[in-house]
Amino acid sequence: MINIKHKLNLLISKQEIEKEITILANELNDKFQGEQISLIMILNGSVFFFADLARKLNMPIKMDTISISSYLGTESTRKVKFHKKIVKPIIENKHVLIIEDIIDTGRTLTNVYEYLQTLNPKTLEIITLADKEGCHEDFKYNYRSLFKVPNKFVVGYGFEIDDLYRQLDQIYTIEDEN
Ligand code: IMP
Ligand code: MG
Repeated sequence: MINIKHKLNLLISKQEIEKEITILANELNDKFQGEQISLIMILNGSVFFFADLARKLNMPIKMDTISISSYLGTESTRKVKFHKKIVKPIIENKHVLIIEDIIDTGRTLTNVYEYLQTLNPKTLEIITLADKEGCHEDFKYNYRSLFKVPNKFVVGYGFEIDDLYRQLDQIYTIEDEN
């Protein structure tokens, strides 16, 4: 049993997560039948989502990772920094899927999407486990999200606060963030 210091409320159960990932995997298996795809995981938050999704896919897949973080700053002055970009030749002229944990402001995915576009993929799609209600109105790219979550901080199933709680197998809202 892990030591939990915050007040957590269950938001999305492991059964719901499993069900939605299965539906998504079936869609992708149909859509990319007979094709090879490149999955790009954005570290670290999408690690469990990526692992669960990838193991339900039945086409050949290749993978690489991107590590990116927001600089501290005010909402409008915040910048992103890439810590690791793509190192394998698996983007140009390939079907590429970005696997992300959540869209909050949309800043992370805007930067990742625009970076990957410069590497000339054949197709480029965004798949995100969750997106926050009302938080990314000016995000201009299409995406497929499994869960809409309220504008609250969530933890578990890859999501963390102070790098804690990632290993919980369900998603919780945190009621006492500070
Ligand atoms: P964005 O760039 O504002 O869209 O933020 C996206 C990044 O912030 C995600 O990749 C997450 O790592 C992190 N993030 C946003 N909201 C949450 C949350 O509620 N819990 C944990 N991480 C979050
Ligand atoms: Mg992230």
